[in-house]
Amino acid sequence: MLQPSQLTQNGPTLSRLVWGVMTWGVWGRNYSPQEMQELIRYGVDQGVTTFDHADIYGHYTTEETFGKALALDPGLRQKIQLVTKCGIKLITPNRPQYKIKSYDTSIEHIRWSVERSLKNLQTDYLDVLLIHRPSPLMDPDDIGLIFTRLKEEGKVLHFGVSNFTTDQYAMLHSRFPLVTNQVEANLLHLDPFLDGTFDNLILRKVRPMVWSPLGGASLFTDQEDARILRIREAAEAVAKKRSGATLDQIYLAWLLMHPARVLPVLGTTRKERMATAIDALKIELTREEWFSLWTASTGEEVP
Ligand SMILES: NC(=O)c1ccc[n+]([C@@H]2O[C@H](COP(=O)([O-])OP(=O)(O)OC[C@H]3O[C@@H](n4cnc5c(N)ncnc54)[C@H](OP(=O)(O)O)[C@@H]3O)[C@@H](O)[C@H]2O)c1
Repeated sequence: MLQPSQLTQNGPTLSRLVWGVMTWGVWGRNYSPQEMQELIRYGVDQGVTTFDHADIYGHYTTEETFGKALALDPGLRQKIQLVTKCGIKLITPNRPQYKIKSYDTSIEHIRWSVERSLKNLQTDYLDVLLIHRPSPLMDPDDIGLIFTRLKEEGKVLHFGVSNFTTDQYAMLHSRFPLVTNQVEANLLHLDPFLDGTFDNLILRKVRPMVWSPLGGASLFTDQEDARILRIREAAEAVAKKRSGATLDQIYLAWLLMHPARVLPVLGTTRKERMATAIDALKIELTREEWFSLWTASTGEEVP
């Protein structure tokens, strides 16, 4: 059973591994409410109690299917934490009013999006709301205002951001206390290790959430890319020293070793893979092993 993790002081307590549902709906497996309910219950039993959504997933349909899954078991909502995101406007027949893909972080849009997420998820409150992407037009005063109102109304308990630079994070945090920055980090995407994102969050005592912690499926399936082949070879060498360890466990253990103490948001749609990920928490790499993977990724020795 996983131990829960606090994102920051006075922030929410989420599960150590978060289950991302981006491909549970029509963007992937197209699970029914019953199938989703089974996965949610499995997660809860294992201590994976936090589920990561966005309004846009499944072209604005996955929250609704997930809400139907929750409605099948009225006690289930209280056992989980719901994270969702807003601010991206996608072109889709489900939103015919949007003519181009764009961002909207206005007071009106955030309010509208939250009300829809609450309705779709069949819940009275969201545990965490994230601004999905930084918009060049975002006004921190407006965002701070609507965050304050939604919190006072009890509709959203905590607020964070996703894919924000360190400066963008600081700008919004100056108006409203943020609890996380959800960013992409994996062996194919080292930016947050290098551009100050993780350092800044450590400085603030805020834990990042990490999307694509396994780099999507490419780290397992790509047979062509020289960088991926190098990483896989390095991970296989590390796995070989731990009988039974799998590549996904080594990739995850590598990420978990970083002092930012990230909360990985796993995108798997299968119970077995979540079980494997949970077991990865027991794996500790040596520093040399960690750097062997880093070096395989960058393609050069550290200076
Ligand atoms: N904030 C943002 O901007 C943002 C952007 C993208 C995603 N997200 C969030 O992050 C979550 C995770 O993203 P992600 O899906 O890219 O994460 P991921 O966990 O890195 O990748 C999951 C993918 O890898 C496959 N996979 C896992 N282990 C495998 C193995 N051993 N062999 C072959 N394939 C394997 C999974 O397939 P199976 O399903 O078959 O296991 C799935 O297709 C999303 O669900 C979403 O909640 C956030």
